[in-house]
Amino acid sequence: MQDAVKAVAVFPEQREVRVVTDHPAPKLERDTEVHLKMLDIGVCGTDREIAHFDYGTPPPGAPYLVLGHESLGEVLAVGAAVTGIKPGDLVVTMVRRPCGHPDCPACSINRPDFCLTGDFTERGISGRHGFMTEQVVDDQSYMIVLAPELREVGVLLEPLTIAEKAMIEVGDVEDRLPWLQPALRDRAVDRAKRAVVLGAGPVGLLGAMALLVRGYQTWVYSLEPAGSPKAKWVESVGAKYLGSADTPIAALPQAVGNVDLVYEATGNATIAFQAIQSLGVNGTFIFTGVPGKKGPIELDAELIMRNLVLKNQLVYGTVNAGRDAFEKAAADLHEFHRRWPAALAALITGRYPPESCQSLLLGPSEGIKRVISFSPP
Ligand code: BGC
Ligand code: ZN
Repeated sequence: MQDAVKAVAVFPEQREVRVVTDHPAPKLERDTEVHLKMLDIGVCGTDREIAHFDYGTPPPGAPYLVLGHESLGEVLAVGAAVTGIKPGDLVVTMVRRPCGHPDCPACSINRPDFCLTGDFTERGISGRHGFMTEQVVDDQSYMIVLAPELREVGVLLEPLTIAEKAMIEVGDVEDRLPWLQPALRDRAVDRAKRAVVLGAGPVGLLGAMALLVRGYQTWVYSLEPAGSPKAKWVESVGAKYLGSADTPIAALPQAVGNVDLVYEATGNATIAFQAIQSLGVNGTFIFTGVPGKKGPIELDAELIMRNLVLKNQLVYGTVNAGRDAFEKAAADLHEFHRRWPAALAALITGRYPPESCQSLLLGPSEGIKRVISFSPP
């Protein structure tokens, strides 16, 4: 066994981002742990912000933070008490860990995605090393096994979990609509629900697929012009594309009809709060993007408040994901792969060696999902 492994590390004190070659190799210490060889690690906006030292905290006492929270690994070895995971399996590891306070109801049932104290940790983000390294050890309870045919796209699972948690909550929200309740569904007039996805990055496009498999008529609204590769991708999966140059946000209701759901994945407050004004009757607006601190924006709060009340609207935000969302994501990724294999694979627009970390993290943000591969497929 190796003693040291390669890792992509952020040194907040020295303000440096680089590959370290002497990161201590993780070892199986408990019999419920699993030892992984890392295959692919996605690069996302969160990683880029950490690499710009906006946030991100190394583990206590460590001079650096190993980046990476979107991962796919292959099992090398398992502890004696591990069940349902075996060497050779493809595994995605969850990101957030409980706060450890005995009075946190969320963390007490291992749902740190709803942690009340804020003292949770996140691998590759705050207080724990991430997955951009050759090997990882973690507890089996944080791992999801993927079917072997998802080798090429498995790294998309974590960004998909954002949509999956949102969809689980949409289910609860729709339960308030009397005609969508199981007992009355058969008697009610059938009407396809209409969803708008704001933003055509990985979270938006994976969210669009998640809406499509749930039977939503889906529109993706983004900056790229009609006819662009993004627009074609959207049309290839059966959604409709709206380019901001052709359709001002205020015209969403004309283009879509009653906007039943908005899935916000731009992280841009101006766009989001313009779109909220177009939310339809009984509509749900879900925020997933985290905006930088750019200062106040102007908005018609009266109109928004009037609509919220007079149109029975619901607005909520969602972060991170629990095991239920990871499991749903694994099932959905399988379904996406069955329905749209080429479109799903096309979301990964480049695989790079760890040595490319500086251009990926600090250079221009290009493509859709760029991946650091320790072992390309
Ligand atoms: C990750 C989440 C995480 C969030 C906030 C996102 O990029 O996908 O797992 O909770 O950042 O740190
Ligand atoms: Zn991410």
